[in-house]
Amino acid sequence: MTNSVMPTYGRLDVAFIRGEGAWLTDTEGKQYLDALSGIAVCNLGHAHPAITQAITEQAATLIHTSNIYHIPLQEQLADKLADLSGMEQVFFCNSGAEANEAAIKIARKYGHSKGVDKPVIIVMDGSFHGRTMATLSATGNSKIHAGFEPLVPGFVRVPFNDIDALRMAISHWPEAVAVMLEPIQGEGGIKIPAPDYLAEVRDLCTQRKLLMMLDEVQTGIGRTGEWFAFQHAEGLLPDVMMLAKALGNGMPIGACLVAGDAVGILEAGNHGSTFGGNPLACKVALTVLNTIENDKLMQNVKTLNATMVHGFEKALSGYSEVKVIRAAGFMFGIELIKPCTVLVQQALENGLLINVAADNVIRLLPPLVINAEEAKLIVSKISKLVIEFIESQEIKCVA
Ligand SMILES: Cc1ncc(COP(=O)(O)O)c(C=O)c1O
Repeated sequence: MTNSVMPTYGRLDVAFIRGEGAWLTDTEGKQYLDALSGIAVCNLGHAHPAITQAITEQAATLIHTSNIYHIPLQEQLADKLADLSGMEQVFFCNSGAEANEAAIKIARKYGHSKGVDKPVIIVMDGSFHGRTMATLSATGNSKIHAGFEPLVPGFVRVPFNDIDALRMAISHWPEAVAVMLEPIQGEGGIKIPAPDYLAEVRDLCTQRKLLMMLDEVQTGIGRTGEWFAFQHAEGLLPDVMMLAKALGNGMPIGACLVAGDAVGILEAGNHGSTFGGNPLACKVALTVLNTIENDKLMQNVKTLNATMVHGFEKALSGYSEVKVIRAAGFMFGIELIKPCTVLVQQALENGLLINVAADNVIRLLPPLVINAEEAKLIVSKISKLVIEFIESQEIKCVA
């Protein structure tokens, strides 16, 4: 059989045909514990009954009209997101890259409104913001740029988690209008900044009248144990926040939220999306938010974060090859001193779905719905694989 899919992904040799909760079943009937959630998307797991019901009922009622008409479900979702985040207004789109594109357009127009002809957005080394031309240009990874030059101009990069570097860049670039960053770098290898970093970025942005634009595409919607990762820093509010991934639990939807100086920048005719915020996507997103709230899933994240961190530390702390274990809610990064991408295949063979970021960081993003038993199973399977990997490498080195 020929396969006409454009080969833009390096795919693992498995296909899933069914899911339930944190479990997936492949074409051979083998079951896998999903510790990746479709890369931070299926926070409610697979085939969640509330999501199934929302999709079927809304599909039987109304899927799509157009943004040339009012969409009551879009208005309800915008109100709900504003309530949960403290942000003021929401633009809806279909993906993380599109949410970031909206943010980039807001930053540029904000700059023009202040008389800056060639606005500059400060972005971070090691960041990931998407695959469109502007978002890949914002991304701090040369592998993502390669082959697509010339990049979109107007981005200046600084090291992540280095407030002095950011201060210097702002002083050096009078055209700087915004700082765009992830509160925790996901693709970059679960990089968690120092506790005060985001607040310091906020202060700098406020002093210099720059927009603080937080890419919460991976960290948002309960993933870190708060609705949004910025809420771990008391009293902090970004000017722009970008969401996607778990907002729809698999139904494509993205959102760009604004507050403060970012409100009112985009006016009628400045931006749009055919599908963005259609009734079906908004109904599902509302159901996602209500389910996380009603089922107290962020409490589950906090409780099981402690269980899992404790489990990993107990099992792996004696191994100097394990450089560091980082965790924020249900974002786990186990950094080894060596590249370990082979572990993805080995985990698959052992019935566990994981991923490796930045070549040497085992990345785990389990669904928020896992129970204590599943959390312990992830810890024991991963710990066993890591120890076997370390010991096999040592044997090779000695030989
Ligand atoms: C932080 C962050 N921003 C943006 C994106 C891009 O999102 P999408 O693939 O929905 O365009 C991702 C995807 O991994 C992400 O992790």
